[in-house]
Amino acid sequence: MRLDKLLAKTGFGSRKNVKQLIREKRVTINDAIVRDPSQHVNLNAEKVLVDGAPVNYQEFYYLMLNKAPGYISATEDRVEKTVIDLLPQHYQALKLFPVGRLDKDTEGLLLLTNDGELGHILTSPRQEIIKVYYAKIIGKVTEEDVEAFAKGLTLKDGYVAKPAQLKIKSADEISEIEVTITEGKFHQVKRMFEAVGKEVQYLQRIKMGEIELDRTLAIGDFRELKEAELAYCLGLKEGR
Ligand code: URA
Repeated sequence: MRLDKLLAKTGFGSRKNVKQLIREKRVTINDAIVRDPSQHVNLNAEKVLVDGAPVNYQEFYYLMLNKAPGYISATEDRVEKTVIDLLPQHYQALKLFPVGRLDKDTEGLLLLTNDGELGHILTSPRQEIIKVYYAKIIGKVTEEDVEAFAKGLTLKDGYVAKPAQLKIKSADEISEIEVTITEGKFHQVKRMFEAVGKEVQYLQRIKMGEIELDRTLAIGDFRELKEAELAYCLGLKEGR
């Protein structure tokens, strides 16, 4: 692969940025300073360093983000801050996209990847990947609500939601619940509660498929997926 392409694909910015790095003599191949951005490089046989740190080529990246409120689930927007803005510059250059959408005010688990095939599988309605949300609901959530969710709610626009599992963690003026759904329609959880006459005050995704939100991640922080999480994703691709 051409060196400028390799560095652009591993998060060192555009080809123009990469040329600048090379001009500044910050890139070496087998300890020799590189002068030609079009030079070809074989990472199996040659050692590429930028500022003394090794460059490893990875085709796909898989990140778990603990989404902060106030960010939209998009890759760019003229007005709003996007979830990509939560990443450091190096990761911003990798052309990652969010897997599915969380509302601007929703927090919690959002996967980011540049693996289009995996993104498609995880969001395809046919796959019925489970999504688990924790929510605070204004008003007392009841056993009747649990039954209504289990049967399949009819939303305000007439859409009949698939059966969902509602668990009451506490029921009072503000109730705490966990809900498991297998679809991901626009404002799905908020509209399901609207269908039983209640309002979501706070919403957080805590699980998607077998991937659980890492509670050690502060709001707005991210990490790369761990081995078992990656194995689950690759298993989904293989099982296709
Ligand atoms: N359901 C919603 O209403 N909002 C979200 O962000 C996710 C699920």
